[in-house]
Amino acid sequence: MRTLIKNIKELVQVERQPRLRVCGKDMAQMETIKNAYLIIEDDKFAAFGPMSELKEQNADTVIDATGHMVLPSFCDSHTHIVYANSREHEFVDKIRGLSYEEIAKRGGGILNSAKATAAATEEELYDMALQRLEGVMRMGTGAIEIKSGYGLSTESELKLLRVIRRLKENSPMTIKSNFLGAHGIPMEYRGHQEDYVNVVINEMIPKVAEEGLADFIDVFCDQGFFTVEDTARILEAGIKYGMRPKIHANEMAVSGGVQVGVKYGAISVDHLEQMGDAEIECLKGSDTMPTVLPGCAFFLNLPLSPARKMIDSGLPVSMASDYNPGTSPSGNMQLILSMACIRYRLTPEEALNATTLNTAYAMGVSDKVGTIAVGKKANFYITVPIPTYEYLPYAYGENKVARTFLNGREV
Ligand code: NIG
Ligand code: FE
Repeated sequence: MRTLIKNIKELVQVERQPRLRVCGKDMAQMETIKNAYLIIEDDKFAAFGPMSELKEQNADTVIDATGHMVLPSFCDSHTHIVYANSREHEFVDKIRGLSYEEIAKRGGGILNSAKATAAATEEELYDMALQRLEGVMRMGTGAIEIKSGYGLSTESELKLLRVIRRLKENSPMTIKSNFLGAHGIPMEYRGHQEDYVNVVINEMIPKVAEEGLADFIDVFCDQGFFTVEDTARILEAGIKYGMRPKIHANEMAVSGGVQVGVKYGAISVDHLEQMGDAEIECLKGSDTMPTVLPGCAFFLNLPLSPARKMIDSGLPVSMASDYNPGTSPSGNMQLILSMACIRYRLTPEEALNATTLNTAYAMGVSDKVGTIAVGKKANFYITVPIPTYEYLPYAYGENKVARTFLNGREV
């Protein structure tokens, strides 16, 4: 099956020599072609170039994109979309003055979600997660990482990971799964959380591995949650079973999370609202992708991660949605793109790289998705008529995605 898209106003983020990630100054480099064509062969990009170079083409489908732009689908490398209930009551508590940590301490927050999620069936959770997945797909996302973490018991965590497996089997999205058994400390383990850590290590990880349910292993390494020591033990155990670390770090405090993540070869360390120079230094020369979650900082009114400083010091930065019921109840990557520019002062080119190629790297799929390159999966969207690509982050809150294609097919 051959699809030709012609007269594209601007074809954005093409790569002739595909890279796995972009760092520092290179984040501002982004190639586009004005008045372009794009050819898709089955599920992959086959060719592109300016219209002036298009030879007569036989195609099964021809789309005339006059006035519209084409971009690679967003990659969202950090989400928690398998959950049962929304948490707008806590949202109101926060408006009235309670902090996220205070709510968590009294058994709300993650434990609130865990209670509702434990009561839901696998079928119910699947239906809810699929709806969220289809929602973000329509907003331009083509690859997504999904975490467990609202189970917090062996049985429940396995249930969530099986939901993710079913999503992988049935959705056209590129999906990676992440086992986050160490997301919260269940009430009955308060005061002796090492016993819960032991359950994660001795019971959960072997069972998750036996069913091949997780690509990654995650820990919420932060003040009031899991310690650096807990994190190191859990990561070591996961690594033995082939799960690569990808962790929550430095949201509440300079927690040592970045250092322990880098030490264990994490593919990404995520959140990073609390970063000192030592954390930036530690990331230099590593293969770990610093990942900022603008939706969470916005929703919780947290200090902003120093994304600009990280890029200026030569680091790569990626930005993901953190879609979850407690700290970022939206998976809209178009909004993340806007926040990247407005709140973190990334240029539109940097912001596009941060939400596509670099997030693809942060979920281990940047050889397959994240830019428009020959041989990569044909995951892309056609915009509504827009004047320039800078308009995408500029016109925040507006849906600019008109048509979405995944694996070469319109969805
Ligand atoms: O990434 N920080 C930890 N985990 C999630 C929030 C989970 C929740 O509050 O439900 C996050 O922000
Ligand atoms: Fe998260």
